[in-house]
Amino acid sequence: MQISNLRRGAWLMVIAASMGIAQDRGSENQLFLKLLPNNFPQINANGFSATFSTQGFVDLTGEYFQAQGTNGRSCATCHMPQNAWSITPDTIRFLFAQTGGTHPIFNSLDADNPGNDLSTVEARWEGYSMLLTRGVFRRGGAPKADREWDVIAVDDPHGFANVNRIVQWRRVMPTINFHLGSATVAWDGGNTKGTDQLAGLTDQATRNVTGAQQGQPAPAQVIADIVNFETTLSTAQLMSFGAGLLSAGGAHGGPQELSQMTKTMGRFDLFDAWMNSRNESRAQIARGQEVFNSTNPANGRSCSGCHSSANNGTSFNDRLFDTQTASAEARTPDLPLYTIRNRATGETRQLTDTGQGNVTGLWSDLGKFKTPTLRALAARAPYFHNGIAMTLEDVVRHYEQHLNFVFTDQQRQDLLAFLRAL
Ligand code: HEC
Ligand code: HEC
Repeated sequence: MQISNLRRGAWLMVIAASMGIAQDRGSENQLFLKLLPNNFPQINANGFSATFSTQGFVDLTGEYFQAQGTNGRSCATCHMPQNAWSITPDTIRFLFAQTGGTHPIFNSLDADNPGNDLSTVEARWEGYSMLLTRGVFRRGGAPKADREWDVIAVDDPHGFANVNRIVQWRRVMPTINFHLGSATVAWDGGNTKGTDQLAGLTDQATRNVTGAQQGQPAPAQVIADIVNFETTLSTAQLMSFGAGLLSAGGAHGGPQELSQMTKTMGRFDLFDAWMNSRNESRAQIARGQEVFNSTNPANGRSCSGCHSSANNGTSFNDRLFDTQTASAEARTPDLPLYTIRNRATGETRQLTDTGQGNVTGLWSDLGKFKTPTLRALAARAPYFHNGIAMTLEDVVRHYEQHLNFVFTDQQRQDLLAFLRAL
């Protein structure tokens, strides 16, 4: 009797945690867990992801989980463990269904247009369409004062952006794997402090409290607690439905091995031991890893050439790149389109986001974005800064259509199996 009650309690905890309601302290009627054990499996379409913290377990009680400002948001409102510390549109729609769109994640700061009516459930469903469909948050503001270019025309389907007010739709970046990560912080490098990653993360947390959380500046020890916490997190796919445990049979997948790796430049070698595996799912993942590492004959490039921090995928040299994700050609109809003119040469280009160009002011940095970590991808679709790729297959097709990669059907399937196992 007692044992079965205990078991039932344990299972409830497991279910609650894997659904991710664990960390949500905002709504009183939800179960709140104080910790996640290391390697605790959290389900996604391809298997399970998990987090390994160098603190011994994932402590869900620190400042990262406390609302720091006036609008009820904490870091964990948007960075959720079961979505690899990002957040998916599925989770956002779940929160909408639960609260009728009054959960703190729904704030006019991130509405399609903050001037729209948001007073009823129906109006909120319409008015937060970018959050609900693509999981993108509204960033931007006035163009940087000191710059080489001007916005001369804007086509914004939501009617908010104009030539003096840039809207940038951005996916939540996962706060993971920083020990193998670059010093670039934020999609456009807006929080980067030279080569000092810690200073960049400190700036980011500081500005989030006064920005997205609408708070007073937080005490230094609160910011330090947040940054210390996020830099302990290693998150990766733990097991996949076909191949099983991704650290089995001599492979080095999963979060625990990731947490013990040191930053090096070069090829991914997680699945070398599976090259001749008799398990076809394992062999396919290993083949996909080689597709990722190899130079593509069609364009002379490799995926790992830019995603050069081995077994993580950020840029080893802190580089940002233009991969055409903000190009007019890759635009989806819900994104704004800016026509931008070079002040010196009169040349124009059209982009859906200014990228690093609005951080440095440089014409040549327009459309460039941070090279992100590629671990735990299966837990956090959609992809790219603006969420234009709903699936990993869309990502690979983007590289084929816009960066001249050429793959056979077999190579594409192998590459996808690898990306899903990261
Ligand atoms: C309202 C949602 C929201 C909240 C709340 C939020 N973030 Fe974020 N976070 C985002 C989005 C969106 C991005 C990507 C922004 C961009 O680059 O333009 C991001 C990016 C980041 C990055 C950059 C990661 C990288 O790889 O460069 C870090 C670090 C981060 N957030 C940490 C935090 C911390 C710490 C807090 C709490 C103090 C926090 N976030 C609160 C939405 C949020
Ligand atoms: C020229 C450098 C470059 C090359 C080559 C490159 N990438 Fe990327 N990758 C990037 C950058 C930069 C981003 C972020 C772009 C954005 O979000 O706008 C990115 C984003 C991604 C993402 C999305 C991650 C996320 O969190 O949304 C995936 C997946 C990815 N790349 C896989 C690949 C694969 C597979 C290849 C080879 C077919 C490849 N990349 C080749 C630079 C590159």
